[in-house]
Amino acid sequence: MAENKLICVIGATGNQGGSVARRFREAGFRVRGLTRDTLSPAAQKLAADGIEVMKSDLDDLESLKPALKNANVIFSVTNYWEPFFRPDCRQNASGLGISPARFAYDVEYQQGKNIADAAAATCDSLDSNGFLVSTLSHAAKSSQGKFIELYHFDSKADIFPFYVREKYPDLAAKMSCIQTGYFYTSFNILPDSYFGKANRIVPHLDPVGDMGTFTFAVYQMPPGKEYMAEGTSCSWADWIKTWSDITGVPASYRQITPDEMIEMTPDRDCGIEVAYMFSYSTDPGYDGGRALLTAEDIRKAS
Ligand SMILES: NC(=O)c1ccc[n+]([C@@H]2O[C@H](COP(=O)([O-])OP(=O)(O)OC[C@H]3O[C@@H](n4cnc5c(N)ncnc54)[C@H](OP(=O)(O)O)[C@@H]3O)[C@@H](O)[C@H]2O)c1
Repeated sequence: MAENKLICVIGATGNQGGSVARRFREAGFRVRGLTRDTLSPAAQKLAADGIEVMKSDLDDLESLKPALKNANVIFSVTNYWEPFFRPDCRQNASGLGISPARFAYDVEYQQGKNIADAAAATCDSLDSNGFLVSTLSHAAKSSQGKFIELYHFDSKADIFPFYVREKYPDLAAKMSCIQTGYFYTSFNILPDSYFGKANRIVPHLDPVGDMGTFTFAVYQMPPGKEYMAEGTSCSWADWIKTWSDITGVPASYRQITPDEMIEMTPDRDCGIEVAYMFSYSTDPGYDGGRALLTAEDIRKAS
């Protein structure tokens, strides 16, 4: 059955999208991976694995529409951090007199909007639960206005689900929102500066190993629900202990303040954004304090 089905995977050359592309390919789907560069090593590897690669740019709605046309399933992910860090984007932000974070919000918001608009154009071809979107909780709404500059959360949530629900009810009826836990690999990005309340439980995810399996399981559930993709939930103190046990590298947990976090992060703007993130994920919580479905719920349903 799945052989005749087409999944279009945005971000197929990356962590989450690559994981999803491989898992659906294993299940017998025809997989079309979207990329800006069909000749990159990652795109070539996908092609060698039997995945169709198609050129498409999330900044260009007209390139997205043909790439998503006739899809039975669409997996969507957007990358806030590329426009946040790219030197030309930093220059543009400075020219506009806005922070790199605000600039990246605008880019990711517009990319998400383009994805939703292009997906809506092929809504009829989508399976009943065929619009699977990677997103995060809405920090400003969930914190009642306390965190209004946690841009990489709100740029996703403003589109998935809010814009889709408001603008395209038919597409929203076929959508599942998958919030992703802290990538367990992210400590590599900021090795000297991780913090949070030691006893606060937060979700952790292996984006390459587990996102595909989780998304494939979500596909088999009824549409219209919200999930937290996580391999495990534990406190940062337990996380550090596990990391230390497995690697054999002595390590212990020490909580630091947001100001220390900003001070210790090489890029100040990034320090501010992640300090907000850790504070928010302590209270009201990484998921905004809402009860989302987890792998356990999917297991119970099957
Ligand atoms: N780090 C964490 O702990 C964590 C936790 C939760 C959520 N997240 C979120 O995860 C997201 C990143 O996901 P990831 O790690 O899977 O990404 P990734 O591995 O960095 O890959 C990014 C993908 O996006 C594609 N892409 C970027 N800009 C594009 C454009 N303009 N047009 C078409 N494709 C474009 C890239 O494709 P090409 O380069 O081939 O075009 C690539 O496949 C971020 O938004 C972040 O906020 C991270």
